[in-house]
Amino acid sequence: MKDFRNKVAAITGAGSGMGRCLALQLAQAGCHVALSDCNEAGLAQTLAEVRRAAPGVRATTHRVDVADRAAVYAWAEAVAAAHGRVNLIFNNAGVALSSTVEGASYDDLEWILGINFWGVVYGTKAFLPHLKAAGEGHIVNTSSVFGLFAQPGMGAYNASKYAVRGFTESLRQELDLMDCGVSATTVHPGGIKTNIARDSRVSPSVNGLLVRDEQQGREEFEKFFITTADKAARVILAAVRANRRRVLVGPDAYAADAMARLLPAAYQSLVVKEARRKRRQFVAAPTPTPAPAPDGERA
Ligand SMILES: NC(=O)c1ccc[n+]([C@@H]2O[C@H](COP(=O)([O-])OP(=O)(O)OC[C@H]3O[C@@H](n4cnc5c(N)ncnc54)[C@H](O)[C@@H]3O)[C@@H](O)[C@H]2O)c1
Repeated sequence: MKDFRNKVAAITGAGSGMGRCLALQLAQAGCHVALSDCNEAGLAQTLAEVRRAAPGVRATTHRVDVADRAAVYAWAEAVAAAHGRVNLIFNNAGVALSSTVEGASYDDLEWILGINFWGVVYGTKAFLPHLKAAGEGHIVNTSSVFGLFAQPGMGAYNASKYAVRGFTESLRQELDLMDCGVSATTVHPGGIKTNIARDSRVSPSVNGLLVRDEQQGREEFEKFFITTADKAARVILAAVRANRRRVLVGPDAYAADAMARLLPAAYQSLVVKEARRKRRQFVAAPTPTPAPAPDGERA
């Protein structure tokens, strides 16, 4: 899709991070936007920013939990009714979980797969008929650099993002064969400066094995966030314009892709070696003492 002007784009997870930046940049390109998120405050902020940046485009919002199949289908119908057509769906909403496989509860596994994988499946299948009916459409599914290589403590996240990759690569080939005017792109971001670490779930099973404690784990996670969400959205939209099958976002995503191709199995020993080196560091480091409570709050 070379030009977004006067198209209609639906975006999940539009209340924060890359979803918000995609919404803003699409609107600035003259694209009408249908925004959804389970976080209504974040959604309202995105809507306000879109209205300010691009007052001429039509913007709608819906509170949608992407893990709820009926809610995603109802949203697709509502978007088509409100905007008259739909040309793009960005299945972007996602969450993270730090846990060993052994320590992951089924509740956590079902939570992350429900959002990161099933949310993408529902969004793809609910919107595809509308995209076909519009005659020109694009499905943009967010995987991750963790859909290219695996890490300890990320088994469930890895599973969800590898699944999105396989699902979308197969879908793209089917759409090519159908010649139906609809295409698909898989997105593999590296570390992007967003709220994903802050909102992630962390299981105690990683403490002492991969991180000292939850706080140090979140800080460590965020050290890898090197690309802004604004830049990431630009890269993603350029890839959609160029009808790319997949897009790597950030220099770290290119490095990870090269590592997984050059050492498709052996890279795992390098990852383990690095995790051991980090463990030696946090075991050796003194445990930070908590800041003293202000006067009057002491027990
Ligand atoms: N930030 C990174 O480093 C990074 C790297 C690779 C892939 N990703 C992926 O990029 C996508 C966007 O994440 P982000 O980094 O912008 O994070 P973010 O936390 O800033 O935004 C994610 C949004 O998804 C929403 N969301 C969460 N659960 C939802 C649900 N059940 N239903 C509807 N919305 C829900 C959140 O409310 C939030 O607004 C995710 O799929 C994530 O896995 C992020």
